[in-house]
Amino acid sequence: MTDSQTESSPEQQLDAARKAFEQEFERFARFTASDLETAVAEERAVADLRTRHLGKKSALAATKKLIGRVPPDQRAAFGQRVQAIEAGFTQSLDSAELSLKYYIQKERTARERIDVTLPGRRPRFGHRHPITLMRERLEDVFVALGYVIEDDREIETDFYNFTALNIPENHPARGWQDTFYTTDGFALRSQTSTVQIHAMQRRGVPVRMIAPGRVFRRDTPDPTHNPMFFQVEGLCVDRGITMAHLKGTVAEFLRRLFGPHTVTRFRPSYFPFTEPSAEFDFSCFKCKGSGCRICKNSGWIELGGSGMVHPNVLRTVGVDPQEYSGFAFGFGIDRMCALLYELDDIRLLFENDVRFLEKFR
Ligand code: DAH
Repeated sequence: MTDSQTESSPEQQLDAARKAFEQEFERFARFTASDLETAVAEERAVADLRTRHLGKKSALAATKKLIGRVPPDQRAAFGQRVQAIEAGFTQSLDSAELSLKYYIQKERTARERIDVTLPGRRPRFGHRHPITLMRERLEDVFVALGYVIEDDREIETDFYNFTALNIPENHPARGWQDTFYTTDGFALRSQTSTVQIHAMQRRGVPVRMIAPGRVFRRDTPDPTHNPMFFQVEGLCVDRGITMAHLKGTVAEFLRRLFGPHTVTRFRPSYFPFTEPSAEFDFSCFKCKGSGCRICKNSGWIELGGSGMVHPNVLRTVGVDPQEYSGFAFGFGIDRMCALLYELDDIRLLFENDVRFLEKFR
């Protein structure tokens, strides 16, 4: 006996395909959806049923290829039966699918309905930190004076933090600021003066820039010290710049920040990267110079350091000190912030206690 002799007839195969479908479809015919998840799963099962019973590899599709084995006079009837069965499958599947889709859509809409009577959730808006507010105020003043704002790295090489600023190796000046050294040859910058060098290398001269940013020093925190704090550096280099420009600029800056009657005073000082050097104070914005708690009864508030850029600094970045001169200054932003907002302890600015920060909304 050969295989073809044991094989069932085309009619039998068609019946088998129909029975197999009906058996499987039975539970869908009786199914009523009761929850969304089941209905979604059932929808997938119906699609799967369609592929298996009507697809190219289905038993029904196989019967179509058997038409040659049907006696010629029965071929038309066989073909019609195949088509009728196919139409029956399709109709059953379509109606099951349709009712599932209807149910799913109805459930989804119900779930997404919004109860507009529920109380809303109020978004919590943040706001800028007092140091940021202070920084923006002084940036505004300097931008109005024609300065650009520079931002630079916080991890520095010895060269930028010291050497280029006229502080040679083994010079005692390297000990004057307690620096955090990291890997060999690197340190967290202890002053924003480093940006003077970067800015001149990047932009060349003439240049007018300020550079606000973080600096780091090995300090034990107390009401006036913190190992990380903020400074702003200023640099102006051009032909014919003199100490008068320095004094005029600093005085104007302080007037714009603290009011038109603010008086500035310069005291001779020493910084390795400036010659001559001066520290500057301004008349107390609170008592106008008569003496109060803020100015420790002196009438003056000490703010920062300044001076005429040392010729060695200019030479280091390839600028001829015979042709160009400049001034520089630097002071603490957080210190200024503490003064302005009358804070007794600058550490408040770094603790991130929202009860404190919320006062600066
Ligand atoms: N870098 C100095 C410090 O951290 C401040 C300073 C003094 C900056 C004089 C300057 C300057 O640009 O000319 O104490």
